[in-house]
Amino acid sequence: MEISPFVLGLPKVELHLHIEGTLEPELKFELAKRNGIKLPFDTPEQVRASYGFDDLPSFLDAYYDGMNVLLTSDDFYDLAMAYFRKVAPQNLRYVEIFFDPQAHTSRGVSLDTVITGLRRAQVEAEQQFGISSALIMCFLRDFQAEYAMATLLESLPYKPWILGVGLDSDENGNPPSKFAAVFARARAEGYLLTMHCDVDIPGSIDNIASVITEIGVARIDHGTNIVENPGLVKVIAERGIGLTSCPISNTWVSDGSKVELVKQLVEQGVKVTLNSDDPAYFGGYIAENFQRVADEGKVSDQFLAQLALNAVDISWAPAVLKAQLRGEIDEYVAKA
Ligand code: ADE
Ligand code: ZN
Repeated sequence: MEISPFVLGLPKVELHLHIEGTLEPELKFELAKRNGIKLPFDTPEQVRASYGFDDLPSFLDAYYDGMNVLLTSDDFYDLAMAYFRKVAPQNLRYVEIFFDPQAHTSRGVSLDTVITGLRRAQVEAEQQFGISSALIMCFLRDFQAEYAMATLLESLPYKPWILGVGLDSDENGNPPSKFAAVFARARAEGYLLTMHCDVDIPGSIDNIASVITEIGVARIDHGTNIVENPGLVKVIAERGIGLTSCPISNTWVSDGSKVELVKQLVEQGVKVTLNSDDPAYFGGYIAENFQRVADEGKVSDQFLAQLALNAVDISWAPAVLKAQLRGEIDEYVAKA
């Protein structure tokens, strides 16, 4: 995909990025070798060729399988550094990074191993690339709520490094209400709240209504099915609850990028943002996702800049950083 100079240089904020979903096949081989793990493939190309997802569960199978090479703090550091290196030339300025602690603790890798590795990369990325970042800890919704609660309590010593909590993995049969007590406790502990409402999942609208009214999230990951209920669209527009949409990811797990829904929702006053979700699996980082919307949606550069500003608005960055990022985007557009 050819990235336009405007898209490439636009200062960007990423709010929906699973760090485990940035594991490129080349690094997978490197880590497998370092850790003495035999992969069921001979080359990175074979790994890529095996990615034929057509829904969320088929993607999740490959995603969890890929993580088995992540064992040490250095592995998590290398994973995150590879990500930062990839997006620095795309002018990524700030990222809130999802990580899935239970996908590691359930394999015997400690929370401390995961967090210290990621944290080291975050500090280095700030110095080396000028990219600011924060962590959002996601619970796996297909595991029991008790395990999520135990993970939440285990995370408390690391609170200064964790901005908020989210909910991901297989949504079908695992509604938000299952985690109401966990999210209430997370809020009481000072964590900010977000949750996945994946695209075109059975009962999606009910889950979206529940995350707004029952859980009280600050934003929703994906969530574009909300267009089916104009009353709910009005509620999130009024309350400034944003949606983190992932156009290229959508093409793999549903029937299209949902670019038209992004345009409709923006028109209705919703703060929608563009994000990459699991770029190593879906084949597009932040700039490719902006470009996809530019190409398919035939939108103006001004509209793309608005989406970048939406991400600043609904991000959980400190006010000073938000003001700086807004200034960078405004200045960029004025000079373009
Ligand atoms: N885990 C990683 N990416 C995810 C997604 N898009 N939806 C649900 N769980 C995920
Ligand atoms: Zn996601």
